Amino acid sequence: PRKIWLTRHAESVSHVIGEIGEDTGELTEGGRLYSMTLAKFIKMEQENIHIAGPGREILVLAGTQTVDSESIAHLQMLYPVATTPLLNELRGGSFTGMTRAEFRAQYPDIHAQREADKLDFRFPGEGGESYMDVIQRVRPIIVELERQPRSLVVVCHLAVQRCLYAYFMGIPIKDVPHIELPQHCVAELVPTPFGTNARHITEAE
Ligand code: F6P
Repeated sequence: PRKIWLTRHAESVSHVIGEIGEDTGELTEGGRLYSMTLAKFIKMEQENIHIAGPGREILVLAGTQTVDSESIAHLQMLYPVATTPLLNELRGGSFTGMTRAEFRAQYPDIHAQREADKLDFRFPGEGGESYMDVIQRVRPIIVELERQPRSLVVVCHLAVQRCLYAYFMGIPIKDVPHIELPQHCVAELVPTPFGTNARHITEAE
């Protein structure tokens, strides 16, 4: 059967400092290594797909943020890529670029509202999103993941990754904002007629 490898972008500097929205592209050393390891891993996995037909072919889907293009730098030398803003990070509205610590310290009430209901909390300001908004936004992506005959590598962001993972694994919507998906880890999803089989691969493996 075809496979879907779901992962988050490689670690970036703004991720380490905890910036909301995380749109600066510069990868950390670990991030640069992951973009290489990821491509090697996918190549190795492709060689192990013992089926004929389009399931052996691979398409890479990624967001359009700078960190996404950095993350797929090695994959794109091997496979076709399609990018879409639908895979970009949950938008932080007027809080974009602020660190999580600044958000907590300078806006304790708004921060507390988010902590109390991360699913419905929408970041104030233009374009700000909630998890519910992201769940709506990724619907066309889910249709694409379902209908694609090829195997897919999906490189996205934590909130989006949580929504896609929850869809395939049948995790209730209320739990989506709290799903633990570590950095530099690939969730390998194998859709079957009666649910999805999943395997988690960490970088060390
Ligand atoms: O963009 C907002 C943001 O908080 C990001 O900083 C983060 O990567 C993502 O949403 C999901 O993280 P969490 O919902 O756990 O704050």
